[in-house]
Amino acid sequence: MQLFLDTASIDEVRKAARLGVISGVTTNPTLLAKEGGVSYRQRVLEIAEVIDGPISVECVSRTADELVCEARELASWHPNVVVKIPIDDQGLEAIARCSREGIRVNTTLIFSPNQALLAALAGAAYLSPFVGRLDDVGHDGMELVRQCVAIVETHGLPARVLAASLRHPLHVTQAALAGAHIATIPPSVLWQMVKHPLTDVGIERFLADARVAGLIPSAD
Ligand code: G3P
Repeated sequence: MQLFLDTASIDEVRKAARLGVISGVTTNPTLLAKEGGVSYRQRVLEIAEVIDGPISVECVSRTADELVCEARELASWHPNVVVKIPIDDQGLEAIARCSREGIRVNTTLIFSPNQALLAALAGAAYLSPFVGRLDDVGHDGMELVRQCVAIVETHGLPARVLAASLRHPLHVTQAALAGAHIATIPPSVLWQMVKHPLTDVGIERFLADARVAGLIPSAD
């Protein structure tokens, strides 16, 4: 499973990129709105300088014709742009048209296995089931990830399942075990994944013993 970073913050992208584990970035209007009025295009170009991988950029048009025009514009910004389109009837038509033109689409706001199937049949490159938002309303969001993976694998569909709306490290583990091809995670979750209290204790103990063994100078 690959990890993408779910953020529009260039500082967070730069910090996370140093770890060498981030293969792409996903953004949306909510994440961009936190960035104090920066232009979407400028931010995407900045991210593209740091991460050499897919960058999902969300369309906000509401009709198929407008979505296709907007998708063409967003895709022209950089070769790594993947256009995000929410699934509804207009979105599905736009996904099919964009995919036929060779514009890669990440279908967003997927909340049911049938929406995932339709998006995959329309040619979407990525399917984004929203785990946390389903959990929020009392459903098992991770079950949707399992269903999406089973559908694409059973039927040999080329779409990749991108587990989204992940809120904590356990979600990431569960997405990996569910067979998600990609998990997109907020920066805070990435940093939580790195940490374990026993690792910190272990490092301290090794350092103390390294001083005793004369491997490093003692603190005093
Ligand atoms: O990847 C989609 C994500 O940005 C949505 O997350 O936490 O707003 O449901 P959340």
